[in-house]
Amino acid sequence: MEKRIDLNVSHVYGTVPRIDIDAIKPEAEAGLAHVLNGDAAGNDFLGWVDLPSRTTEGLIDEINVTAEILRLSCDYVVSIGIGGSYLGAKAVIEALSDSFAAYGHGKQGPHMLFAGQNIGEDYLAEMLDFLKDKKFGIIVISKSGTTTEPAIAFRLLKELLEQQVGKEEASKRIVAITDAKRGALRKLAEEEGYKTFVIEDSVGGRFSVLSPVGLLPIAVAGFDIDSLIEGAQDMQRELGKISPDNIAILYAATRNALYRAGRKIEIMVNYNPKLHYFGEWWKQLYGESEGKDGKGIFPAAVDFTTDLHSMGQWIQDGERTIFETVLSVEKTELELTIPEDKANLDGLNYIAKLRVDYVNKMAETGTRLAHVDGGVPNMRISIPALEEAYLGQLIYFFEIACGISGYMLGVNPFNQPGVEAYKRNMFALLAKPGYEKETEEIRKRL
Ligand code: PA5
Repeated sequence: MEKRIDLNVSHVYGTVPRIDIDAIKPEAEAGLAHVLNGDAAGNDFLGWVDLPSRTTEGLIDEINVTAEILRLSCDYVVSIGIGGSYLGAKAVIEALSDSFAAYGHGKQGPHMLFAGQNIGEDYLAEMLDFLKDKKFGIIVISKSGTTTEPAIAFRLLKELLEQQVGKEEASKRIVAITDAKRGALRKLAEEEGYKTFVIEDSVGGRFSVLSPVGLLPIAVAGFDIDSLIEGAQDMQRELGKISPDNIAILYAATRNALYRAGRKIEIMVNYNPKLHYFGEWWKQLYGESEGKDGKGIFPAAVDFTTDLHSMGQWIQDGERTIFETVLSVEKTELELTIPEDKANLDGLNYIAKLRVDYVNKMAETGTRLAHVDGGVPNMRISIPALEEAYLGQLIYFFEIACGISGYMLGVNPFNQPGVEAYKRNMFALLAKPGYEKETEEIRKRL
């Protein structure tokens, strides 16, 4: 691998000395061994570990062909899904897209829209109104095939599409990604004759971005899923062995050392607005994997320098329970220098002729020093560029480090029992058949 993402943890040593991190590295190594050997809790959900190397050219081709069919027949494609069936694709597409693509700027393919990630009536009504006279298709993604949010969105959008183009044409423009056998979506897809892709039983939602769940929307958006997978394969080779250079071991050991030293909140920081949704994806990955049994680092995310003008005060000066992990993109895609201005009324001539990114990098360095001085330990992940291969590396790195870190915390990183509580109450309040007793009980509490 010529270039790769890298991790620097030297700016945490003021809070946890290197020796403390080294001391718990054997725990991280044991965590990696559990992930690789499948001999600990949650071992029936480890299908993602060798997913990159198991992804065949045949599958990539099938996804690309399906994407091309949607690209040719639609101006808009709605990806319906929530949580792990949404955030990975959204994160990669945002990271690679022109910031103004929605307004017709940059490379154009069908526009990707997202639904089923909320139950916003206005959001859905506006989407239906917007699409009513547009050529659109649907990718509906739900591993369980029973999740309420995407099911509502799919029912509405399917009805609109069938009204617009007829049932037969609609069934050609709908692709379902779901469990191999079970679930309402599988049954519906078979009955309606939709093209389908399978989410393997052993790949949990939040670990599924490198499966068809993420790959199909990313391919429809016009990005190179082959390179994304190649990047992940590079990391699979590199991080799948216990070695002193293993950055997943280093990241997991460092964040757990910080947690044990009272740092309960990790803030994922980016200095590139295109990485906003990468922070959202990371929050789900770590939040759902680690937050259980009364334990877990709270994952938060901010966009700098934007949020230095909102959260900056808290981070610099608030309760010292945080640490930050910075995603730093080394090279921008485009170049822009700050112009000289004769009048210099804004006093900016001292940075005239400098690249905007240089100013951004100085903001990053200055902020790191200020935060470290203010008692905020800082880790830095450098990404050579926002390109498919490096995003593939980053995704796999965070996934494997998450498994290691969860085992270090002493939790099962691959279940999410806490997600069921709100669903139970919502179903009871909606009087879902089968929830009669819960409905009676919850109504007494209102
Ligand atoms: O990580 C997870 O397992 C969850 O976030 C799921 O992805 C999310 O709840 C959506 O589930 P499903 O794909 O079954 O609709």
